[in-house]
Amino acid sequence: MRKDVDRTPDGIKLHAPEDFAGMRAAGALAARILDEIAPHVAPGVKTGELDEIIHEKIIEAGATPATLGYRGYTKSSCISINHVVCHGIPGNPVPKTKSETISRDLEKRRDDDRLLTGDVLNIDVTVILDGWFGDTSRMYVAGKPKGPASRLIDITHEALMRGISVVRPGARFGDIGHAIQSYVEGERCSVVRDFCGHGLGRVFHDSPSVVHYGRSGTGPEMRPGMFFTIEPMVNLGRPETKILDDGWTAVTRDKSLSAQFEHSVGVTEDGVEIFTLSPAGRFHPTWDR
Ligand code: MF3
Ligand code: CO
Ligand code: CO
Repeated sequence: MRKDVDRTPDGIKLHAPEDFAGMRAAGALAARILDEIAPHVAPGVKTGELDEIIHEKIIEAGATPATLGYRGYTKSSCISINHVVCHGIPGNPVPKTKSETISRDLEKRRDDDRLLTGDVLNIDVTVILDGWFGDTSRMYVAGKPKGPASRLIDITHEALMRGISVVRPGARFGDIGHAIQSYVEGERCSVVRDFCGHGLGRVFHDSPSVVHYGRSGTGPEMRPGMFFTIEPMVNLGRPETKILDDGWTAVTRDKSLSAQFEHSVGVTEDGVEIFTLSPAGRFHPTWDR
């Protein structure tokens, strides 16, 4: 890690008070786009179409999609359906779940990127606005959720909010992991270990790695001006993941359902500011559309 004067010994950037305005604007834009995509999520809609809408909205706002061209990624969003944990590529055929693989039901034999009734999906958008990165994701449902999906969504949302609630100067990054892991495992779900949150600001992925499991009182100390994401991925089954042949799509190894929510936050003098709150109050799929 570079040894900048405005970084802690752990290599974590400390932003100036005036930098919060840039993050607020970028975060609000990313969150607004997630609000505006909600009415488009429905059975029969293709994820490639959703990505095109997202792309247009980002450009229209005078911003840039951060994922476009990032390490060879070619889309403006990630759309991760059912047992896809993260980094699902819009427009690609939806990976088949166990039941889809064996189903004789034609509607369930899907070879394209169309949403089916009951699909649960995470849409993850990162914008660059005036040089600042706003990174947020949330869950959506095509039609009505089936089986244990809505419980998993509720648990994952609660896990994110519990992680955010411990953020303040003097707290440690391990406190976030502990808050999330102890809650999620108490609900008999599992926390994904293979992906984590990250510092951000004028860059997409910076120090620290914000892991969603761990022990209280461990890890670097939080200080005002730190900007980072918290983005827990929670599985109904086991935590292990694997990457599909496209090099991006991460799925649960046991094909169990996975959910994720993500906010970009900043440490303030006395607590936390969430940069990516939903302007329309639509962060959770069962909140009013
Ligand atoms: N937005 C994702 C995150 O939360 C990163 C996506 S990188 C991509 O960090 F290349 F997969 F789009
Ligand atoms: Co992120
Ligand atoms: Co993201």
